[in-house]
Amino acid sequence: MKTTGMLRDDALKGKTIIVTGGGTGLGKSISRYLLQLGANVTICSRRQHVIDETAKELMEETGRSGGSGVVLAVACDVRNTAEIENVIAQTIEKFGRIDGLLNNSAGNFISPTERLSYKAFDTIVDIVLRGTYYFTLAVGKYWIENKIPGTVLNISTTYATTGSGYVVPSAVAKGGALIMTKSLAAEWGKYGIRLNAIAPGPFPTKGAWDRLFPEPLASMMDPTSRIPLHRVGEHGELANLAAFLLSDYSGYITGESITIDGGEVLMAGEFNHLEKVTTEQWDMLEQTIRQANKASKKE
Ligand code: HXC
Ligand code: NAP
Repeated sequence: MKTTGMLRDDALKGKTIIVTGGGTGLGKSISRYLLQLGANVTICSRRQHVIDETAKELMEETGRSGGSGVVLAVACDVRNTAEIENVIAQTIEKFGRIDGLLNNSAGNFISPTERLSYKAFDTIVDIVLRGTYYFTLAVGKYWIENKIPGTVLNISTTYATTGSGYVVPSAVAKGGALIMTKSLAAEWGKYGIRLNAIAPGPFPTKGAWDRLFPEPLASMMDPTSRIPLHRVGEHGELANLAAFLLSDYSGYITGESITIDGGEVLMAGEFNHLEKVTTEQWDMLEQTIRQANKASKKE
């Protein structure tokens, strides 16, 4: 496993990237790496005290001189277009331009769908789908007007393509955001704007684990048991992929969703459960199959 930084120092120097939900979890880990690579980063989310605390911590850890690798924290609910425009204005005022947008904010929780109120469904879809397209639209208009070949990276999920019960509003919203990624990659390619997505498997964070694997569920099930690599993801692994997709090194990749899940989605393969069969059982099964083959030749 390689979780140390992959790109060379200063690979993102001169770039300014907005990270939604950058105060916690995966957004915070990715922001840390973007700063280490010399990007200026604006982190935003609803809770000002959380992003302020993260900004302070990240500057202490990664602090540089020379006007790069600086973090700005601006409160924003991604469901509110005026607040999104304020993040964009403050970022341009502080850093002069915007080169990248990481749509990472999300809301989610497990629930049988029939237990959800209309508002519960709307809440998740508004944060995940509406928030992603509002932010993308606002930054995209700025890029097109200013002839900046920006890049958008959307944090998706593996169930954006497979679907999943018990997280239906999230699946619907992530699926919509993924199709938006592909659709706009086609439409805005002419402006040099790229859009990609990452579909992570399980990467432990407090935000996700509190809402998706609460006790006693967490003690009853081991998420790694369904993963061919038998482990959860490391934040550094995701940060490496995100930094690559936000950098010019991925300049010919657009409209793509890259899965990083230790092979979890592959377990839908019909016969993958056969990994539980022992060598002795395989000896017996092979004999049985060979005998059936022989018998059928005689028929
Ligand atoms: C049923 C619920 C509920 C639950 C909330 N609601 N929790 N319904 N079961 N467990 C309902 C409420 O009753 C309300 O409906 C509606 O949802 C909105 O709830 P609010 O609390 O008013 O909304 P808000 O304050 O905006 O909070 C949004 C939130 C919250 C999504 C509910 O959890 C949040 O702030 N989450 C942000 C962080 C997060 O979710 N991180 C995890 C991302 S992980 P009514 O009708 O009663 O008013 C992720 C990973 C995917 O996406 C893949 C993992 C492998
Ligand atoms: P997290 O720490 O809870 O991150 C979610 C972030 O979204 C929080 O910082 C939250 O901050 C912000 N947010 C929520 N509602 C918002 C709103 N209305 N406006 C602005 N910001 C809002 O969870 P995480 O695990 O790091 O998730 C990050 C991303 O990864 C999400 O897109 C999630 O779907 C995706 N993902 C995670 C996993 C995993 O295993 N962890 C797997 C697949 C996909 P505030 O509360 O301050 O607003």
